[in-house]
Amino acid sequence: MCGIFAYAGTENVVPLLIEGLRSVEYRGYDSAGISVIDEVGEIQTVKRGDHGASLGNLASALDGDSISGVVGIGHTRWATHGGVNHQNSHPHASSNGSVSIAHNGIIENFLELKDELMDSGIVFQSETDSEVLAHLIGNAVTSGRSLREAVIGAASRIKGNTAVVAVSASEPDVAVGLRVGTAGGIVVGKNADAAVMASDVIALLPYTSEVIYLESGEIVEIERGVIRLFDLEGSSISRKPIVTSQNFEAAQKGNHPHFMSKEIAEQPDAIQGAMRGRAAFTKGTLSLPEFSLAQGQIKAIDRVVLTGMGTSLHAGMFGALVIESLARIPATAENSSELRYRNPLIGPNTLVIAVTQSGETADTLAAMEHARNAGAPQAVVLELEGSQATRVADFTLPIRAGQEIGVASTKTMTASMTTLLQLAVVLAETRGVIGGEQVRNIVGSMAELPSLIATTLSLNGQISELADRLSKFEDLLYLGRGAQLPIALEGALKMKELAYIHAEGYPAGEMKHGVNALLGPDIATVVATPRNDLYEKMLSNISEVKARGGEVAAIATEGDDTVERLADHVIRVPDCPELLQPFITLVPMQLLAYRTALALGRDPDKPRNLAKTVTVE
Ligand code: AGP
Repeated sequence: MCGIFAYAGTENVVPLLIEGLRSVEYRGYDSAGISVIDEVGEIQTVKRGDHGASLGNLASALDGDSISGVVGIGHTRWATHGGVNHQNSHPHASSNGSVSIAHNGIIENFLELKDELMDSGIVFQSETDSEVLAHLIGNAVTSGRSLREAVIGAASRIKGNTAVVAVSASEPDVAVGLRVGTAGGIVVGKNADAAVMASDVIALLPYTSEVIYLESGEIVEIERGVIRLFDLEGSSISRKPIVTSQNFEAAQKGNHPHFMSKEIAEQPDAIQGAMRGRAAFTKGTLSLPEFSLAQGQIKAIDRVVLTGMGTSLHAGMFGALVIESLARIPATAENSSELRYRNPLIGPNTLVIAVTQSGETADTLAAMEHARNAGAPQAVVLELEGSQATRVADFTLPIRAGQEIGVASTKTMTASMTTLLQLAVVLAETRGVIGGEQVRNIVGSMAELPSLIATTLSLNGQISELADRLSKFEDLLYLGRGAQLPIALEGALKMKELAYIHAEGYPAGEMKHGVNALLGPDIATVVATPRNDLYEKMLSNISEVKARGGEVAAIATEGDDTVERLADHVIRVPDCPELLQPFITLVPMQLLAYRTALALGRDPDKPRNLAKTVTVE
């Protein structure tokens, strides 16, 4: 969705707003803008709707100290209502320019509000839904309300999930923030000289590690060194800050050219993080202390439903396979945007597991609410603690991958898979399906995972050559079977979102049921064919593709010369237990998409039309 940052303090706010927006730019980068209360108490607004170049162009436009002040707000936009241009960029101003707002979310009743405001003589400057907030708040301030009261009043008029920050020329020392629903959060913090609020904790880290996450229905007022919290009735709220574990330095690129390459490379550490405090390698035991469902309830589970979107859904598919395979409980993975609307049969003996690295994905949160209302015990597998999903689930299972900035999810997928595999073992052992010996074997295999991943990371050379070749195609097919199917789907998703190449992931068994019609010299096929019980079937699929003139790139086990003879290109991954093969074939898929994007001159950290967290439907 969008990135928001606001500052009230003693320093010149302009460079601080730019830096704050850089920290949250991955949440949306179609446009960028700031509003500053200048030395004479007027609001100055500068904004650029230049797609990925917006923040850079905004910073250039602000060079030379043309504007300065000590209170301001900023916004990076992922367009939902209104095209990408300067006018539709945030912040948006009230008619007389005395109020400016930056908004994240969707105002579902904005047309009726816009009509009402236009009937009263308001002239709109943009096509956005957000601008109605500027006028509602501006009108209230003009009629004598304080900025906080005006924001509360506007909150009572709008429908939909919203996070908004506002400044007013009539109160030049403060900025106000509001959160209603789950349109991406607002987190606030302060030090002796300043107070800041943002849509993401990472933007606060240069100022403080003690932060407060706004709950839905809360208002915050910040000024130099002061934070004041209120509810929608205007009553004061007091809440102790938490110390965040996020690390500003870790969130920087280091010596990597992109966040995505850094985060792919961090996967050995991310997987270790996901096993920390859970897998005891010397004893060969495994526990998941955060999953404190009573043993009797674990034994009574008669179905497991996993749910998520995009990459997290693919991780959930892996989770369903290992849970059903190890714990022998029927398990399915469902797209949250489908699950939330199909009135599913979920009850107290259904274990629901949401997978969402951000914890803020609107469709996944809605599916989680449905599960909670159905009385199902629910766990959420996530990275961002303090996010909305942790307030809905009964159990939060952190994946501890570390902040993921690249829009394309990489390390959070492998860390989610690692967490889900451990959950599967805990379920299986608690239900008596596997015993200590099998647990020891699995834990022993998992101990090898970080080094196996590190080995696959060294495949870059083979990958670059293949990426150059695949970049020539407009259509790609990704095939997999069993636990390699979610990997094939993920490989296709990565190629779509990074290289903008049409890539379809398919169960390899589907080929004869229509997909074969696509085969020919104009489409290349990527197949995941590690040595396992479906290996022979995959060899047949490769032959099928080749027989119809298709080009095949296979991800195969080191030393497998059979595939070598069949496929046009082979990426060799280390041999490993079948349970771990999806991790090992996933990394080349990630690298392939990353390298292909570079071959095509795409920005892998900020793919077009996308945002890191989709907090709207
Ligand atoms: C994957 O690379 C994309 N970033 C996207 O599909 C993402 O996985 C999806 O939006 C779910 O996000 P979540 O894990 O934060 O819920």
